[in-house]
Amino acid sequence: MKIVVINGPNLNLLGTREPGIYGDQTFEEYYESLISDFPQVTFDYFQSNIEGALIDCIQKEGFSCDGILLNAAAYTHTSVGIGDAIKAIDAPVIEIHISNTFSREDFRHKSYISPVAKGIIVGFGLESYRLGVEAFLKS
Ligand code: DQA
Repeated sequence: MKIVVINGPNLNLLGTREPGIYGDQTFEEYYESLISDFPQVTFDYFQSNIEGALIDCIQKEGFSCDGILLNAAAYTHTSVGIGDAIKAIDAPVIEIHISNTFSREDFRHKSYISPVAKGIIVGFGLESYRLGVEAFLKS
């Protein structure tokens, strides 16, 4: 099984960015632990702060992998284009959030990803990604 992890804007700053909300681990550290905990999975990882680059990645990977874990970060709440890209591909997408977006500001309650995602995992810290891998493995 091949799973592609796609992270959106500012998630490259995990570890130092608002640690009270997002924790103090870098994504690279966490990603290494995911790779070693699921040896049966082939992972690929892409991060960008640019909306179009995220759409390019979704289009590129979305016809050849078995699933995408997408944390579109702030673009979750604004991007019709990312929602449309998910509709255009074959691979199922699980929407991931580190924080519980529903316990935060109102503008974070809107998602253009949720209606077109296979499922949503929200609020479990970085472990949201691990739960996403397990969901793909079990479905
Ligand atoms: C986030 C939640 C978003 O609202 C925010 O803009 C992020 C991170 C999360 O993983 O909790 O950048 O997607």
